[in-house]
Amino acid sequence: MESKAVEMGKGGAGGGAEVRGAAVDAETRGAAACAAEKSVLMVVGSLRARSLNRQLAERAAAVLRGCVRVSFLEYADLPHMNQDVEVPVPEPVQRVRDAVEAADGLWIVTPEYNHGLPGVLKNLLDWLSRPVYADGTSVMRGKPVTYSGAAGSSQARYAFASLWTTLDFMGADVIDVMPTGVLLDRRAYSTDRLVLAERDRESLELQANLLLMHMGVPRPLVCRSVT
Ligand SMILES: Cc1cc2nc3c(=O)[nH]c(=O)nc-3n(C[C@H](O)[C@H](O)[C@H](O)COP(=O)(O)O)c2cc1C
Repeated sequence: MESKAVEMGKGGAGGGAEVRGAAVDAETRGAAACAAEKSVLMVVGSLRARSLNRQLAERAAAVLRGCVRVSFLEYADLPHMNQDVEVPVPEPVQRVRDAVEAADGLWIVTPEYNHGLPGVLKNLLDWLSRPVYADGTSVMRGKPVTYSGAAGSSQARYAFASLWTTLDFMGADVIDVMPTGVLLDRRAYSTDRLVLAERDRESLELQANLLLMHMGVPRPLVCRSVT
């Protein structure tokens, strides 16, 4: 895969044009500018095998991989939130808690269901919201989180609004500037193949840089471009 660098302009995160710098080989410059010890956990709100949102998350992950370690959270086996089964902690719950705790940042990529969040994602967030530390906080407290989505005509804006409300209430460090909302057309639905417009790619690159900034990765940032 051919790659080029995207540099954060001196003016910071003011717009897509400012963060798209000169083409530089990420393999050579990236090594110096990246923070290999940092990690991002991708969370996909669709469990569908051919999910378009999963494809979107993979595109975002490919950008980040030039800078940080990236992994995907697998949570299909989470039980429904039920306070009767919170103790002893079910193994899948402990596993997702540990994964979130270990990550320096989260990137949620989700479809919109009925102008809200998919139930599986809300269920995950409800589990993650539970207090686990002595001071009564959860693994989400202060965690840098950004979000994107691929959906129909709303471009997932209702899902984003719902996510913001939930994440903010949980005390996460929510990065809500310009979330990437990809408009799915008939072709995407019929082929299950995600095609990104140039503005979507620019938006993903901007989001990647904003997330890395919140995670304390020093500027200037160098990432791979979205392909
Ligand atoms: C139950 C259900 C409800 C949906 N509601 C909406 C909606 O309110 N707004 C919207 O733009 N898309 C809606 N969609 C479409 C999804 O946002 C999304 O485009 C689609 O499920 C593809 O996501 P995936 O390929 O990642 O699974 C809905 C889909 C489902 C299955």
